[in-house]
Amino acid sequence: MKKFYVFSLLLCLSSLINAQSSYLIDKNIAVFYPADFQNEQHLPSPIFINELVPVAELPSTWNIRPEYSSENGKTVVTLKIGDNDDIYGTGEVYGDLRRNGKTVEFWNSDNYGYLKNGGKNLYQSHPWVLGVRPDGSAYGIIADNTWKSKLESIGNVLKFTSEGPAFRVVVIERSSSEEVLEALASLSGHMEMPPIWAIGNQQCRYSYYPDSRVMQIVDSLRQERIPCDVIWMDIDYMDKFKVFTYDPKTFSQPQKLQDFVHSKNMKTVYMIDPGIKAEDGYFVYDQGKASNYFVKTPDGNNFTGRVWPGNCNFPDFTRHEVRTWWSNLTRDFMLKGADGLWNDMNEPSVFDVPSGTMDEDALHQGENSDIHASHLRLHNIYGMNMVRASREGSLLAFPDKRPFVLSRSNFLGGQRYGATWTGDNMSCWEHLQMSIPMTLNLSLSGQPFNGPDLGGFGADCDPELLAHWYATGVYFPFVRNHAAKGTNSQEPWVFGERIENICRTAVNRRYVLLPYIYSLFREASVKGLPVMRPAYWSDPSDKNLRGEQRVYMLGSDLLIIPRWAKNPNLPKGDWDIVQFEEKDDMYQAFVAQRPGSIVPIANLYQNTVEYKTDSLTLLVNTKDGLAEGWMYEDAGDGFAYRSGEYAEYTFSASTDAKGVVSVSIERTAGEMDSPEKMIRIALVCDGKITYSPWTRGNNVSIKSPKEKEYSIDASKLKFSEIDIDAQPSLQKKLREQTRKMEITGQPFEW
Ligand code: NOJ
Repeated sequence: MKKFYVFSLLLCLSSLINAQSSYLIDKNIAVFYPADFQNEQHLPSPIFINELVPVAELPSTWNIRPEYSSENGKTVVTLKIGDNDDIYGTGEVYGDLRRNGKTVEFWNSDNYGYLKNGGKNLYQSHPWVLGVRPDGSAYGIIADNTWKSKLESIGNVLKFTSEGPAFRVVVIERSSSEEVLEALASLSGHMEMPPIWAIGNQQCRYSYYPDSRVMQIVDSLRQERIPCDVIWMDIDYMDKFKVFTYDPKTFSQPQKLQDFVHSKNMKTVYMIDPGIKAEDGYFVYDQGKASNYFVKTPDGNNFTGRVWPGNCNFPDFTRHEVRTWWSNLTRDFMLKGADGLWNDMNEPSVFDVPSGTMDEDALHQGENSDIHASHLRLHNIYGMNMVRASREGSLLAFPDKRPFVLSRSNFLGGQRYGATWTGDNMSCWEHLQMSIPMTLNLSLSGQPFNGPDLGGFGADCDPELLAHWYATGVYFPFVRNHAAKGTNSQEPWVFGERIENICRTAVNRRYVLLPYIYSLFREASVKGLPVMRPAYWSDPSDKNLRGEQRVYMLGSDLLIIPRWAKNPNLPKGDWDIVQFEEKDDMYQAFVAQRPGSIVPIANLYQNTVEYKTDSLTLLVNTKDGLAEGWMYEDAGDGFAYRSGEYAEYTFSASTDAKGVVSVSIERTAGEMDSPEKMIRIALVCDGKITYSPWTRGNNVSIKSPKEKEYSIDASKLKFSEIDIDAQPSLQKKLREQTRKMEITGQPFEW
């Protein structure tokens, strides 16, 4: 009833004011309607979780306003921004962190190696800009448009050009980037809390098969003591690539496989693609055909395109009943032995056609079965709707477990349904470096749970690259080693003991940091803040940090400085390097802690099943003798946390006149029973750590060894000797790959 009222009010307002109209929908959040707004071509919006209800008139002083026009029959929307503003976000993009002067095309595309179209369009679309003014105040711009479109940043103008009719624009005004992202999440929804195992280390390959190979890899991870939580099944587990089936010879006993994996305290994630093999007798095809669930061509046939299994039809995920069907298929599949799901190729990718996807005039039905909507309009939310259905299916299978779905394609707002990775990167230095701004811009576009294929997907990885990739990447929100078919193995142990030790050390660091990282996921799920943040967030007033894209932040308190990132721009102040190991291997990233912060770390465990927080080490880096921190914990899975079964703590440190630092722990929220913890202080001081004895209780003290003097100075840090420019370039890697394909006569399959 309320929805209906709001909707009618909106319709009424937009028809009364037959010109561009605008309102405030919240404090300093404005929505702009074009004069000729066509509801049925844009609504319901997949971005917003609620209707955009006008609450007040737009003040005449409002700064950023869209101007609507048309160019060569296309809709153009321009917005004037400040001459010196820095812009970020714009979704999954290849290239620099700052998006000034860049173009991004919103047309989800399978883009192996980011090679097509100069990497201008990748697997997902986020018609969204985060703008930051010189004084640190910030704004967000949402183009509420799913149609094929592009965004150009030209001087102080942002220009959206769309193939569809004129669309609504939402402008958020806030005093910081953090607040803009919180507002974005309040409009487009929050990532749900993932199961804790999904934030552990993960191992994948295209493909581990038969099932005995999967078991071997799991065994090796345990034998080699590389902490790990998840093993992934790529397409080869299927019977001739038919989704929801198993190869009867190589994966005949999925339940037994899952039992084995569980016995090693790990989880299984299986790939499910959207392409349904058009083959009579295949149950998924038969059901989809009988119920008329597939995307159509304009002449009413099912759209057919080739993917892994051969000719396929594609479920029309824009329809509610199709999603329900898919959720039920997913439920049945997961009950056979899958803990999580991997949705791939869902741009959707179509082989052997120049566009790499469905024809633009293919027809969907959308949410309203009276409206036949073209692929041109709904292409960009195809993947989003698929992952939405998969998530529902996971909940049907396991109503008491938190779903984990990884999707290659998605759209602004898609954090509500699943996590993502940055698709098919290459094992090359350019892509290791690029993974930082890519993950950051996705994070600044409302998707906190994302990361690259660690080690690189395409082409052969080499020992140095793998070691540096682990040492750089274990602090990303999503950590999974993955490699393409036809490439050399790149598990941590394949390059010998030296490289394996480096990888293990890096992964160990991730596991001891879990109390802090899990708390960041909680923050993301409640507030909408990203887990991984750009360096400029540490000090928005420092102009030098605005473009810094080698160094990044994990939450607000840790700054990650990769060992190859020579002479980066670092924040001022007493950020202090945390010394995790006795011996420096010259690969591990420097982890610098913010002055005035307390970061909780755990003992080392090999997986999150064993993981406990009954003993906590509190990394303390004081500022003027003081420091603060917090921590969240719950059962790690399930939904009891929603009804109060969690615990939140705050930590506060002070220093007395004799230099004794005392930390007290206070239980601040949640009703979860949790016994008193063993705690100790690890005082981070001048690049060294001094530990207090372990203490049971809520207070612990330590005499500070001396007055703090430290302040990180990039020129004094010892960076690795690696000469990045002398490493095999992307171009060289591509040549090597082509040669390998010629020699082996085997097509390089991606
Ligand atoms: C493309 C995906 O991006 C990649 O990760 C996967 O291994 C292959 N498809 C095969 O399924």
